[in-house]
Amino acid sequence: MLTLIDHVGVAVEEIDAALAFYTDVLKLELVHRETVTEQGVEAALLDVGDGHVELIAPLGPDTGVAKFLAKRGPGLHHVAYRVADIDATLATLAAAGTRLIDATPRTGIRRSRVAFLHPASSGGVLTEIVQPAEDH
Ligand code: CO
Repeated sequence: MLTLIDHVGVAVEEIDAALAFYTDVLKLELVHRETVTEQGVEAALLDVGDGHVELIAPLGPDTGVAKFLAKRGPGLHHVAYRVADIDATLATLAAAGTRLIDATPRTGIRRSRVAFLHPASSGGVLTEIVQPAEDH
């Protein structure tokens, strides 16, 4: 069902400041930047092998990421697993009694379809599943 760790999501206060570490020190390649209004974030994707690091910074104070930063500070925010069929995966998870934040997929970065599982069902780890767009 899950084929790869697609990305780890890292909450940051400000994308450009955080990017300096990832590109200059870790030498990862920045491959995409996007404002994802539906999730209230500005995001940057860096390649690491077949997976990514996803930096996310809040668009405003009322966003989930802003609340996360206020409560916990910058750091690891979520783990995202790649799936081939997000609708089938969500149905399987729901049938298993998994608490879902998103019962139906929403639009993620690079036109992917994503859904979040509630941390209460995943040992405190905010977990995302992602079905990439056909061309990614
Ligand atoms: Co993500």
